[in-house]
Amino acid sequence: MKLTADEQAMLDGKEGKAKQKAMDLLVRYGEALGAERLVDTKNVCGTVGASTPFLREYGQKRGGMDAVFSEFNLDSAEVVEIPKVAVFSSHLQHGIDPEHAQRQGIPVEVVKLHRRGEAYAAGLGINLLNTCAPYTVGNVTTRGEHCAWMESSAVIYINSVLGARTNAEGRESAGSAMLTGKIPYWGYHIEQNRFGTHHIELDIDVESTADWGLLGYYIGEAVQDRVPVVTGIRNLPNLPRLKHFGAAAASSGGIEMYHMVGITPEAPSLEAAFGLKPGKRRPQETIRYGKAERRKAYEAANVTATSRNVDFIMLGCPHYTIEQIWEVCKLLEGRKLNPNTEMWIFTPRQTAHLAAQNGYTKIIAEAGAHLMSDTCSAMGRLIPKGARVAAADSVKQAHYLPAIMGIECWFGTTEDCVNAAVSGCWNGGLE
Ligand code: F3S
Repeated sequence: MKLTADEQAMLDGKEGKAKQKAMDLLVRYGEALGAERLVDTKNVCGTVGASTPFLREYGQKRGGMDAVFSEFNLDSAEVVEIPKVAVFSSHLQHGIDPEHAQRQGIPVEVVKLHRRGEAYAAGLGINLLNTCAPYTVGNVTTRGEHCAWMESSAVIYINSVLGARTNAEGRESAGSAMLTGKIPYWGYHIEQNRFGTHHIELDIDVESTADWGLLGYYIGEAVQDRVPVVTGIRNLPNLPRLKHFGAAAASSGGIEMYHMVGITPEAPSLEAAFGLKPGKRRPQETIRYGKAERRKAYEAANVTATSRNVDFIMLGCPHYTIEQIWEVCKLLEGRKLNPNTEMWIFTPRQTAHLAAQNGYTKIIAEAGAHLMSDTCSAMGRLIPKGARVAAADSVKQAHYLPAIMGIECWFGTTEDCVNAAVSGCWNGGLE
């Protein structure tokens, strides 16, 4: 790999041990991927600290948070002193919500350690956005911006909807990028790799957020980790719909980039989306999406669910926007949850503040539900004690929660979920 003078200086240790370790990791990682060089990045989203029991224990045994960062962000068994980050860096979701720890079954001592971890990250200059949807709370990337982001649902969103350039990074590469402002130049940083490979033609209207989730789920399964180009869209999707579409596509498959012709920035036309210039690229395959395909996706999303007696409703995957909280409040206001049902709604911490300010938190609480932040059920392994049958309005959550927590999970619209929370019974279905 060819390094610039400043990169070589970091690798030679001229800017301290931690940056040397970070640069060494990035060079090893880049060479394994076949990258010929690194690229500057000024926007990194990752995770640090000790959000799992294993990491907490490691930190306690090895003498603190620098030990955790050294081992799990820099791949260094040697504990090095971690300096402040070199570029704008944000923290993604955590394993718990310290404000709702008791309800989530988190012991007090774990909350204390968690808060120490948060203070450590803030001390390094990492912005505690605490969400899988940083683009909804101020970290809005620009077109062409080279980023180093973790979190599949966020990666697909900023690549496709905002036109930024990132691969799905890991904790190690993102941590190293925070300290150096560098990331290997490969994959979706390179223009040719961003062109479409598969053409998806819609034969039906895709309208609700749930519908967009199903479409994403179907396409992810169909194209796996390639780049789909969607045409035939009659209803312009808003931010929550694109958020759910991308999260689902990155769950059933490994999609990190897609185009919607006439909607996403790198797809003003079908030709542009496929890069049909001199090289004359052709889509590998054209896939039609109609009623049968929608049903297939719906059945796949509901494959684990059998009992209609629902005891847990999980909303907010990816973390709800303020618009989605407003929508759910319209469905909840004046109603009460069934006494056998819990409803947890997840959102970024800043959005939770906004929800309180607008009276939404009160409406949610009066119905008997709970607005939480920072984490989610699947990632934090957090469900109400004894929960057996869940329901979610996110295909991604319905995909992961049963596998992670060993419970059943229904997928449906937000309205289906709210109705189930009130009645305790799942009556959702495909129209
Ligand atoms: Fe976010 Fe959890 Fe879903 S981290 S994307 S809410 S699985």
